[in-house]
Amino acid sequence: MKHLIQTTDLNTQEINQILNHAKKYLHNEVSHTLKGKMAVTIFFENSTRTLSSFEIALKRLGASVVRLDVSKSSTSKGESISDTAANLNAMKPHAIIIRHKNAGAGDHLAKYVSCPIINGGDGAHAHPTQALLDLFTMQNYFKDSLEGKRIAIVGDIKNSRVANSNIELLRRYGMQITLVAPPHFLPQTDLDSTSNLSSIIDSIDVLMSLRTQTERHDTQTYGSLKDYAYNFCITKELIKNKNIIILHPGPVNRNIDIEDEVLKDPRCKVLEQVTNGVAVRMAVMEHFILNQ
Ligand code: NCD
Repeated sequence: MKHLIQTTDLNTQEINQILNHAKKYLHNEVSHTLKGKMAVTIFFENSTRTLSSFEIALKRLGASVVRLDVSKSSTSKGESISDTAANLNAMKPHAIIIRHKNAGAGDHLAKYVSCPIINGGDGAHAHPTQALLDLFTMQNYFKDSLEGKRIAIVGDIKNSRVANSNIELLRRYGMQITLVAPPHFLPQTDLDSTSNLSSIIDSIDVLMSLRTQTERHDTQTYGSLKDYAYNFCITKELIKNKNIIILHPGPVNRNIDIEDEVLKDPRCKVLEQVTNGVAVRMAVMEHFILNQ
C-alpha cells in the first residue's frame, strides 16, 4: 500500500505524471474516475484551504467524502488516534486524509489501515500536497524547466512543514534555494541563508513567504511580529518593479508576511496557488486511490 506522507514517497517520474494530469483539471474538466469511491478527511488542526481543497477535489472526481468532526469524535473521549484509524478503516474507505499537530502522525496511522493515508500536514514535518501545488504553480508560470531558477523562502522556516517539503522537492527540480529568516527561525542547513532580505532581492525569480508558526513556539524568544515584519514583510518598496513572483501557502498574516498592496499585485500568485491546489489534489487522489 502506498501512502503520501512526504514528498519523497513519490519519485520524479510519478510527480511528473501527476502534475501533467493536474493540468487537465485546471480547466474544470469533469471526470468521474472516482465514482463509487469514498474518502475520509480527519483534521485535528484548523484548516481553511487544505481541507476544502481535498474535499472539492474528491467531489469533482465523483467520490463521496466523509468528514470526521474531530471535536465530536471519540478521540475527544480519550480514544487513541490509532484506534480511531482502525475503526475508520473497518468501514472500508478508499483513502484517509489526515492533518495532525504531531510530526509522524500519518506515518503512525499507516500501520493500522489498509487504504492510502494522505498527509494534509503533520506538525513541522511535511505537507507534501502543498509542495506539489507550489511546484505546479511555478512550472505553469515559467512554462519550462525550473532548473537553475532561484527561490528565496522567507519566514519561520524552522517550524514550517511547507518549507520542509518544498526544500526537498524544489531541490530535486534543480532550483537554487536561499533561506531568509532571523536566526531563531532558521534550521540547521547546508543551503545558502541570510537574514537580510534586501541583499538577495535582485538575484531571485521567486519569493516564497511563510507565516510565523506561533502555535509551534513554546516560548517567544523574539520581539513582536511587528518587529519581524519590519525586516521580513514583502513590501512594494522591496519588490519595486522586479520581475519576480510571490507565493504564500496561506493563511497570510497581512502586513506581517505580505503587505496589502503586494497581495493585490499581479505578481502575487496566492489565489492562483489555491486554484492549482484543487487540480493537483484531484490528480494526487486519483493516483493513490486508483493505483492501490
Ligand atoms: C500551511 C499549513 O497549514 O501548513 N497552510 C496550508 O496548508 N495552506 C501553512 C501555515 O499554516 O502557515
